[in-house]
Amino acid sequence: MKTADDLFKEFKILSVSEFFKKNADMLGYTGKIRSMTVLVHEMITNALDACEEAGILPEIRVEIDQRGEFHYEISVEDNATGIPLKFITNVFGKMLAGSKAHRNMQSRGQQGIGVSGAVMYSQVTTGQPATIVSSTGEDMWRVKMNLDLQKNTGKIIEKNKIKDNDGWRGTKIIIEAKDVTYNKSRYSPHNYLRMSSIANPHARIEFIEPDGTKIVFPRSSKEMPKPPKIMKLHPKGMSTDDILVMARNCRARKLGSFLRSGLTRVSRKKAEEIEQVSGVSLDKDVGKLTWDEAERIVKAFKIIDFMAPSSEGLIPIGEKNIIKGISLVNPEFSVAITRSPRTYKGGIPFIIEVGLAYGGKNGPGIDIIRYANRSPLVFDQGGCAINEAVKSIDWRRYGVNVESTPLTLFVNVTSTHIPYTSAGKQALAME
Ligand SMILES: Nc1ncnc2c1ncn2[C@@H]1O[C@H](COP(=O)(O)OP(=O)(O)OP(=O)(O)O)[C@@H](O)[C@H]1O
Ligand SMILES: [Mg+2]
Repeated sequence: MKTADDLFKEFKILSVSEFFKKNADMLGYTGKIRSMTVLVHEMITNALDACEEAGILPEIRVEIDQRGEFHYEISVEDNATGIPLKFITNVFGKMLAGSKAHRNMQSRGQQGIGVSGAVMYSQVTTGQPATIVSSTGEDMWRVKMNLDLQKNTGKIIEKNKIKDNDGWRGTKIIIEAKDVTYNKSRYSPHNYLRMSSIANPHARIEFIEPDGTKIVFPRSSKEMPKPPKIMKLHPKGMSTDDILVMARNCRARKLGSFLRSGLTRVSRKKAEEIEQVSGVSLDKDVGKLTWDEAERIVKAFKIIDFMAPSSEGLIPIGEKNIIKGISLVNPEFSVAITRSPRTYKGGIPFIIEVGLAYGGKNGPGIDIIRYANRSPLVFDQGGCAINEAVKSIDWRRYGVNVESTPLTLFVNVTSTHIPYTSAGKQALAME
């Protein structure tokens, strides 16, 4: 019989990157075509996010080169802000690190795993370092880096300062990957980029395919989307633990000022109502809030009526741009609608947009193209709430035969927090 000591000899602590190395499928790395598209997706979403936040019209260049059987080099270049040298290893080498996960703001990325996951996939399939060229406008660096998966960090193995940056600002990342392949199917980078271009008409995307063919997805709108805004959390979306974590990290001293400054839709009057219902004094030192008190406050949040959260920080694509986007299928008729903002889980605002195109290049049946925060969702359609919503419609009432009517349905969900079904971010959970 083995003892506890015997069993616990095997006890080990895994780092987050070791975990995702073992479970790369959770990040979407399953199958040769899908893995290729996921790599491109992670780099493109970052490029578009960085451009959007900085108010830059995106110019993105993607190149895929074949190196051998199921072996490719992928590079993505953007014209965003560039990344300061001291952040490069954290951006590309550390999982759960980034500028987005902790902010209540609409963005394509929301976990801090995407591109570090791509570098991890590259390293574990090829053993090769990633190359990053980045210029912040002043300094330009070319860096080769590896990952230390045990420590969840990146290690620079070579760095060169480039003197003449020709005025270029932005980031280019080059990785190699094996166990990937390239074709032109619906699930390929080609279709992914086409879909990205439809939902981001302000972006110009240039794509060089492995056989050297150059494809340009042109900019069809020079209008820069408004940059998304950081939004305060709404009481209805808060848990007891959220309150305590926020209370410990806030600048306010008293509960009253904490509630009013830290959350949205809490006026002086509402704060007094919270005090009355929860029995926790607004003069309470917020740093000393107990679990029991925070729990009573959350219960009060559930009972009290608050105005719905503001959605002014959410930036939908807009009906005009959706029509422009779906015109790519040359439809006989198209229509689009941006619905009014709603909330889920009580306090998280979202906006649904739908475009519908009839005829044109579509074959028979309904083709659903799904997006979350303008980022195409190409995989896991079956388990996605968007798909379920479309299926739940009684199409016969509209004279549509789901088998034969040639329809393209464009659906974009915009939110500060997209409820993805997994870290691979390809399907929306049913709430
Ligand atoms: N091309 C880029 N230009 C500027 N900053 C970037 C770029 N790519 C990544 N970053 C920065 O690196 C961080 C980490 O990127 P990463 O893709 O790993 O996570 P994320 O985009 O925050 O979330 P997700 O895991 O959902 O993709 C980003 O939050 C951003 O701050
Ligand atoms: Mg990302």
